[in-house]
Amino acid sequence: MTKSDDLDGKVGVVTGGGKGIGKAIAKGLAENGVKVVVCSRTKAELDQVAREIKENDGEATPVVTDLTDSDQINGLVDATVEAYGRIDILVNNAARSFLRPLIDLREDGWDKIFNTNCKAVFLLSRAVAKIMGKQGGGRIVNITTIGAVRGGAGMGVYHASKAALSMLTKCMAVEWAPLQINVNAVGPGLTKTAFSQPIWDNPDMERMITARIPKGRLAEPEEIVGAVLFLCSNQSSFITGESIYVDGGSLAHS
Ligand SMILES: NC(=O)c1ccc[n+]([C@@H]2O[C@H](COP(=O)([O-])OP(=O)(O)OC[C@H]3O[C@@H](n4cnc5c(N)ncnc54)[C@H](OP(=O)(O)O)[C@@H]3O)[C@@H](O)[C@H]2O)c1
Repeated sequence: MTKSDDLDGKVGVVTGGGKGIGKAIAKGLAENGVKVVVCSRTKAELDQVAREIKENDGEATPVVTDLTDSDQINGLVDATVEAYGRIDILVNNAARSFLRPLIDLREDGWDKIFNTNCKAVFLLSRAVAKIMGKQGGGRIVNITTIGAVRGGAGMGVYHASKAALSMLTKCMAVEWAPLQINVNAVGPGLTKTAFSQPIWDNPDMERMITARIPKGRLAEPEEIVGAVLFLCSNQSSFITGESIYVDGGSLAHS
């Protein structure tokens, strides 16, 4: 992966940084000199990521956080400022979903998905933007999905929450441009993580899915990192309100 010198010494928060795509992003930022705060609800996974980053001469702090609790969101922001004095980068990566046809989805299922994938992003981004604004700017990258722009069966509320996140990305970008905060999104296609394990664990299902991906396979989590690094670097200084899809050509193939 190309190193981006201008990221060296910056401070970044990665939500859902304990595994999967978030872990790969946290490690990618740390390799470029970013001091990384990783959060999720699972301490053991966060400790492991922080250990791996430190073994590679990086800097990381794990902060156990349930992003559906606004007090814990504020605690995450306070812990980051206490540890490193500022926040330059926020990657809103944490999300949840489950396979459930809309007709069977319970009201609390809707709330769990929207509270994590949308409301938490708003609350955390708002708190961080106030700090970035005082510092003179920053970068926010929201991890969305190709499902934000393409419908499908079985995860309708997840798709809807990510479509809302895409619009939130644009509106935050417009409102916070005068604060010099760039807000963009990265939308992975199907990527090999615990999230998508029910698909790639089933060879017939994986064959059916990969047949519709021009690159003919799922992404590895590390393949999502480059777009995030680009959107955090000086090379993307005039890009805001945009989405980059990292999907092996899936959206190009309608
Ligand atoms: N994998 C794919 O195929 C794929 C495709 C398109 C987009 N994406 C997007 O990529 C992002 C990462 O997905 P992934 O595949 O890496 O998922 P993953 O392996 O399931 O990781 C999700 C992370 O989010 C954290 N999280 C969930 N709820 C949380 C909460 N309430 N508070 C704090 N942390 C929470 C989880 O930690 P805890 O459970 O320990 O809290 C975990 O660290 C998501 O935004 C997802 O929508 C994934």
